[in-house]
Amino acid sequence: MNELQFIAERLLAQINSASALQELETLRVQALGKQGEISNLMKNLGSLSPEERKERGALLNALRDQITTSLEEKKEILEAAQLQERLEKEKIDITLPARPQVLGTIHPISQVMYEMIAIFRNMGFSVAEGPDIEEDFYNFTALNIPLEHPARQDHDTFYLPALDEGTERRVLRTHTSPVQIRSMLKKKAPLRIIAPGRVYRSDYDATHTPTFHQIEGLYVAEGVHMGHLKACLQTFCEQMFNQPQLPLRFRPAYFPFTEPSAEIDIACYRKEGQLIVGPGQDWLEILGCGMIHPKVLENCGIDSTKYQGFAFGMGIERVAMLKYGIPDLRSFYEADLRWLRHYGFSAFEALMEGTSE
Ligand code: DAH
Repeated sequence: MNELQFIAERLLAQINSASALQELETLRVQALGKQGEISNLMKNLGSLSPEERKERGALLNALRDQITTSLEEKKEILEAAQLQERLEKEKIDITLPARPQVLGTIHPISQVMYEMIAIFRNMGFSVAEGPDIEEDFYNFTALNIPLEHPARQDHDTFYLPALDEGTERRVLRTHTSPVQIRSMLKKKAPLRIIAPGRVYRSDYDATHTPTFHQIEGLYVAEGVHMGHLKACLQTFCEQMFNQPQLPLRFRPAYFPFTEPSAEIDIACYRKEGQLIVGPGQDWLEILGCGMIHPKVLENCGIDSTKYQGFAFGMGIERVAMLKYGIPDLRSFYEADLRWLRHYGFSAFEALMEGTSE
């Protein structure tokens, strides 16, 4: 056996017995790499005579091709084996039973928010949003609550430092009313929006939590009057509580941003210790409303001699408690899984209309 045949036999035997891709790669480098055995033999061709070079060159080329082919074939075999091994290891037994039911539920606050949005959408309102961290100007001043106004004290505000020196301090919005201002400044009149969202007040007892939710409504157009406000909110309450001709009571009230202002009570009664919505002897306050104060319209660059509007705001938890018989406000925020399963809603039943404009 000549020298080249001998090398070929040895390399082929090594390739054949390689059991891992890494090992094969080492063999490739040893034979065909820059300093490889065959490459080195090829480098020596230059020292031979033209005839010898031709003959040996052809033999070396054949050897190189033979080894290359053998390496490639072996690589394919090893790769296939590796894939097979992985498939075996990652096999999933699809006959195993499904996991026990761990379905989440829609929180009653979200559910009630979706229901409210759906009702107002049918009346032509679209959803507007504003930031939770609000500027003093939008939360108070532009709503006709200047710095020294006593109404500011009712709000138990969480204050945040100003972003930059010389700018106003910021607040966690105490109500959704600043979205009125943002919407009017941006879109002017006519305008018909609702703004559901989270609000914050530094207060905690059986009927107050530091975070709660409100929905704000705003309708600005020419010739709007209290009759429109009344019809809109009567329709809303009847649909929300599924009660045609639900009695409502309008009581005079005061809000700095509306004039005149009113609070609306819905009729209710007690049965076996539970408060039920419907004609009865009791009344329960559910929202504040009024005709937008001309100063507020002017603060937003809207001509108050041409346009009028009404606004309203209500707490979402209060409505959820009434509609779904939830007795305790604080339970909304305790993330108790048993409570969530009991009072939560199935994702398939929930009214999930597009909630953003
Ligand atoms: N922003 C009021 C509050 O948090 C609620 C409210 C009352 C909103 C009357 C209004 C309104 O838009 O007209 O107590």
